[in-house]
Amino acid sequence: MKKLFIETYGCQMNVADSEVVASILASQYELTTQEDDADLILINTCAVRDNAEQRVRARLRELESWKRRRPALMVGLLGCMAERLKTQLLHDAPALDFIAGPDAYRTLPELIEKAAAGEEAYDVTLSKSETYDDIMPLRYAANGVSGFISIMRGCDNFCAYCVVPFTRGRERSRNPQTILAEARQLLADGYKEVTLLGQNVNSYRYEADGRVTTFADLMEMVALLSPQLRVRFATSHPKDISDELIHVIAKYPNVCKFIHLPVQAGSTSMLQRMRRVYTREQYLERIATIKRVVPECSIATDIIAGFSGETEEEHQATLSLMREVGYAAAYMFKYSVRDNTYAATHYQDDIPEELKIKRLEEIIALQQQLSLESNQQDVGKVFEVLVEGTSKRSADQLFGRTSQNKVAVFPKKDAKKGDYVQVRILSCTAATLMGEIV
Ligand code: SAH
Ligand code: SF4
Ligand code: F3S
Repeated sequence: MKKLFIETYGCQMNVADSEVVASILASQYELTTQEDDADLILINTCAVRDNAEQRVRARLRELESWKRRRPALMVGLLGCMAERLKTQLLHDAPALDFIAGPDAYRTLPELIEKAAAGEEAYDVTLSKSETYDDIMPLRYAANGVSGFISIMRGCDNFCAYCVVPFTRGRERSRNPQTILAEARQLLADGYKEVTLLGQNVNSYRYEADGRVTTFADLMEMVALLSPQLRVRFATSHPKDISDELIHVIAKYPNVCKFIHLPVQAGSTSMLQRMRRVYTREQYLERIATIKRVVPECSIATDIIAGFSGETEEEHQATLSLMREVGYAAAYMFKYSVRDNTYAATHYQDDIPEELKIKRLEEIIALQQQLSLESNQQDVGKVFEVLVEGTSKRSADQLFGRTSQNKVAVFPKKDAKKGDYVQVRILSCTAATLMGEIV
């Protein structure tokens, strides 16, 4: 059999997609972790910020010289950058043999054949219905404990800065029965945790035979499969995180007490320019409800610094909102203008680079402090931790995550990967809890 090497950039959806791709090609290719061995290299790309694309462009230049030495090697580009740039890259990057967008992976065998015959090979058609729901992903990237299940594709929100609706197409939800089948398979394979994935999971909605399944319904169905299977989800849009969902999180011990609720900015004026369709007050009301109904819940977020027209006052509002919520963790980015988005066509990218960097650094410094404070509150308490493996720092230590999605490290004792253990937290840094099994 020929050998396939896949490299994945971008979000968890891309990781899940790469596993679908591995499954689609499984009858022709076996996976290798050694790129030097590969007959085919697939690069699954991200287009969300310019630096993500620059990394891939650098990689393609590197592969160009490789291919001079190994002319039989084939290289294909997948994912969001493929979709955004379409055939342009076939002309710009001589290393590339073919291109497939996120909804075109079923055609990969034909694209490979065409490219091998020297023809121009690409498929960047977006679909309104493709969910790959009949394809059981080949879980090569997983650790055997925690797996991803993609429950929907696309996004209809068109936030002003964001390229995802253009690269992933229209929002569509997957048949819940196929999601449950995948979760059962993971359970049977010894997995202890699933993360249900979508760009905006709260708008999951599947209708068949007059019956509607909402995201809260789906979470409940997955939670009921087994108390031994933890359930997580990502990502939620604040505009439609429902009370029903918050109550499902509270009700089931195996639904993790962790919500990633990207706020992006702290002022209503900025949120309006971003087209996020909620105000600062509405966001804080959702946070207050979460804290009231699920007091032990930890909350994480995404923040963009230096978006179009950002005033010092708006930046300060982001910092004050961060303090008010007390996020346990955050992904923080500098605004990167993306072609064709509402912001690119209607606003100026007018915040100077140095100011973007300064604001981003202030946001990161504050989050560092908030993460530390959040972790310090856990010291002295006992948490159930799902063991994911041996710590990178020491072979005598295991690591895993709490329900709140915090990483804990502790001496091994008799525990092993895949076990649930009770860990008393003894100390912490901003990034890690340190403890012992009790
Ligand atoms: N669907 C998810 C986010 C997907 S993109 C959601 O809406 O929550 C992940 C994050 O990248 C976003 O939350 C945002 O913070 C960031 N992001 C998206 N476009 C960006 C851009 N043009 N510049 C900088 N950051 C961006
Ligand atoms: Fe992008 Fe907004 Fe959709 Fe998230 S919800 S993927 S930020 S358009
Ligand atoms: Fe990137 Fe596409 Fe995900 S743009 S963040 S890989 S949906």
